[in-house]
Amino acid sequence: MNKTEAANRISLLREDLDMHNYNYYVLNNPTIEDSLFDQRMAELIELEKQFPQFFDPGSPSQRVGSDLNLEFKQVPHKYQMLSLSNTYSEEEVQEFDQRIRKLTDESYEYVCELKFDGTSISLTYENGLLVRAVTRGDGEKGDDVTANVKTIKSIPLRLKGDYPPEFEIRGEILLPFAVFDALNKEREDIGEQPFANPRNAASGTLKSQNSSVVASRQLDAYLYSVLGDNLPENGHYELLKHASTWGFKISEHTRKCNSLQEINDFLREWNIKRKDLPVATDGVVIKINSINLQQELGFTAKSPRWAIAYKFKAERVSTILNSVSYQVGRTGAVTPVANLEPVLLAGTVVKRATLHNADVIKSLDLHLSDTVFVEKGGEIIPKIISVDPESRHPMSLPVEFLERCPECNTLLVRQEGESAWYCPNETGCPPQLKGKLEHFISRKAMNIDGMGPETIDLLFQQNLVYNVADLYDLKFADLVDLERLGEKSANRILESLRSSTDVPFERVLFALGIRYVGETVAKKLAQALKSIDEIGKASFDELTHVDEIGSKIAESIVSWFANDKNRKLIERLKGHQLCFESISEEKEGQTDKLNGLSILISGTFTKFSRDEIKAYIELHGGKNVTSISAKTSYLVAGENIGPSKLEKAQKLKIPIISEDDLLRLTN
Ligand code: IVH
Repeated sequence: MNKTEAANRISLLREDLDMHNYNYYVLNNPTIEDSLFDQRMAELIELEKQFPQFFDPGSPSQRVGSDLNLEFKQVPHKYQMLSLSNTYSEEEVQEFDQRIRKLTDESYEYVCELKFDGTSISLTYENGLLVRAVTRGDGEKGDDVTANVKTIKSIPLRLKGDYPPEFEIRGEILLPFAVFDALNKEREDIGEQPFANPRNAASGTLKSQNSSVVASRQLDAYLYSVLGDNLPENGHYELLKHASTWGFKISEHTRKCNSLQEINDFLREWNIKRKDLPVATDGVVIKINSINLQQELGFTAKSPRWAIAYKFKAERVSTILNSVSYQVGRTGAVTPVANLEPVLLAGTVVKRATLHNADVIKSLDLHLSDTVFVEKGGEIIPKIISVDPESRHPMSLPVEFLERCPECNTLLVRQEGESAWYCPNETGCPPQLKGKLEHFISRKAMNIDGMGPETIDLLFQQNLVYNVADLYDLKFADLVDLERLGEKSANRILESLRSSTDVPFERVLFALGIRYVGETVAKKLAQALKSIDEIGKASFDELTHVDEIGSKIAESIVSWFANDKNRKLIERLKGHQLCFESISEEKEGQTDKLNGLSILISGTFTKFSRDEIKAYIELHGGKNVTSISAKTSYLVAGENIGPSKLEKAQKLKIPIISEDDLLRLTN
């Protein structure tokens, strides 16, 4: 499909889907089969992915409200996944208790639990084996994310003890703060937008199409409710304790409470102690303990009558905005930072708050000297939540985002659909140059021993290095006189630079610091295209055919190589003998039976996991691709393959084969 055809088809699909949405949600009068609606939506999403220039925030594909993802198989929940009603004060908790008192004559106990702030999951176990993991979705049906959940170490795949033959257990999947911080640092490092908070990071990770990515992210899970027939206990608290003997991770802070006083004690205690927990919590859930009474009390349309969430108040203070400064990162992204009149918040003095990007400044309508409200919520970095326009001086000026780079005065640019402004002066802007050097020498890249950001800073200040190739021209005399560096360190650095010729190609590629080319992408590129020359020659289309390379990454690579200065840099580095080719090791079972074939896999398979089948294709010389085009050689269709992929393959007359057919091709 060419660009004009795509534009027409996209606008037709958007109009059509908008109309059906309106008929369904507003008029309560559905005018299309659900499956056909889903199929058209999938087609729209696929086209928008292929033609990102037509991105439109108002497109029906951009609606949120459900975490359903068309790439996953959708499964109905046996028991609806409802949410809890929220309360914000001890009075409201008391009213909740009064409502229950009116509904029953029995005496009852409560259980107080931490309310974990992650993404909810429902796990089904049959005969002690984890058979299914499903997200909340719209509460009625969710996405089957079993393969991804299986990588979470704290979720047992096989139970121990005297578990019931069949039951569901629900809980929250979380990304611990420490992992979140490291992950965001890594994302910022390759020019990816960081996740806003650990919750988004957890749900984003869970929806990854690549379970090895999930495995590397160290998600954690706490379980908080068991559902099923003939459960071994009648109390929710006792049932959770029992479930912990089957191997589940149950919060040790869950407590039985027999009075409002005990509940309030728990609320006050955890309002403080939660700050020391390794994972995010946003409140306390108060539940009736007796499962019989829970069933008797039942549900309203949206939530159970037997439980309530008490939300912690995010700590908030007001202060004055003194100024806004701007930081330029390695990739040129310009981040605004608010400089505040120092103020005490949640035990620390806050002087700065992140403003993220120009849109945030605009939506806050921020003016200099404004009184601003600063909050520390689940996130660690304080945020400006709102401003007080009442106390604004009539003459105060609105904060205007910069037009030029604060470091090199180049006109800033913003790509369509992105919120960040960038300084495009990649090869001349000091913090970008320094950032690139720091990245190049870092442990996961070239791992240059004895050199750190301070050394880079000194070398840069003395005009000894400007780009990464200059590092290889350094002499003993240049280094030995640097502050804090002696003969020993100078020799260590030179030796480490010399031996960096042994660093494999994929790491050299990562070290170049091309935007969006992180470790995994570098690995995939090196495996698929084998050398820097091939990558530099590859067209946008060829790049997007490489497994896991989308249009955003491909565009970034093409424009990096289009810059003459970058090509010259490669030539200089080649002169210093850096490794720019993949050294192929013969693998066991390797053949060339799929050489030259571009293969797309879709759906789930019985003999292989998705990662295994991809590895199998590569082992036999084939290339995994992620979208169908006229160049695709085969579509290997598994179970529950998306209808849009099938339709497209049929339209383009791409042979559709099964996993058994694939095995036959290679034997
Ligand atoms: S019980 C019928 N217990 O909070 C709902 N939920 O709005 C039963 N959550 O979607 C939920 N910690 O993802 C329950 N200890 C806990 C929880 C918890 C976190 C989440 C859950 C749910 C949302 C409720």
